[in-house]
Amino acid sequence: MQLDLRTPTDKEFEEIRSLVKVFELDDRDLQKEQFTIAIHNHELLGFGRLREYTDCFELCSLGVVMPHRMQGIGKAIVTKLIQNSPKNIYLVCIIPEFFAPFGFQQVKEYPAIIQNKMNYCTSELVVPETYVAMLLSKRN
Ligand SMILES: CC(C)(COP(=O)(O)OP(=O)(O)OC[C@H]1O[C@@H](n2cnc3c(N)ncnc32)[C@H](O)[C@@H]1OP(=O)(O)O)[C@@H](O)C(=O)NCCC(=O)NCCS
Repeated sequence: MQLDLRTPTDKEFEEIRSLVKVFELDDRDLQKEQFTIAIHNHELLGFGRLREYTDCFELCSLGVVMPHRMQGIGKAIVTKLIQNSPKNIYLVCIIPEFFAPFGFQQVKEYPAIIQNKMNYCTSELVVPETYVAMLLSKRN
């Protein structure tokens, strides 16, 4: 599938805001410039976000619209976000098997901001699965 991977327009960003709520993803401090979206035939099929902190980057708020899941769109967005990050990337998730093929490894020690994310997930985004932190080391 031919995908256009780029930053959203204002209108697309409003659509992302709604989808982030529907998918119950991290909706804190959403900013348009943080997002990479996947567009096909003018349709928004997925999105993901890279948040920059002083000591690391975080990959979060990743989602693909239901009818288009399992078609490689999530992977394409993650690949682009990794390319866009100049530094190590952390994430907190319940699906480590999805992220492992990119080189993300589970870690027990992480920056305070990622601990903060872990606390947010376990208190605000409650699910039966266990949240884990992962790190992709890039040569900085
Ligand atoms: C997780 C998500 C982004 C994956 O996007 P996708 O476009 O369906 O995934 P892709 O088609 O690019 O990747 C398919 C691969 O990922 C794996 N995969 C897809 N969804 C998965 C899931 N929920 N858990 C574990 N592995 C998953 C598939 O098994 C497949 O593996 P393979 O390539 O070895 O066959 C999508 O299911 C989604 O939006 N889920 C709801 C929101 C969410 O959970 N976001 C992640 C928050 S950390």
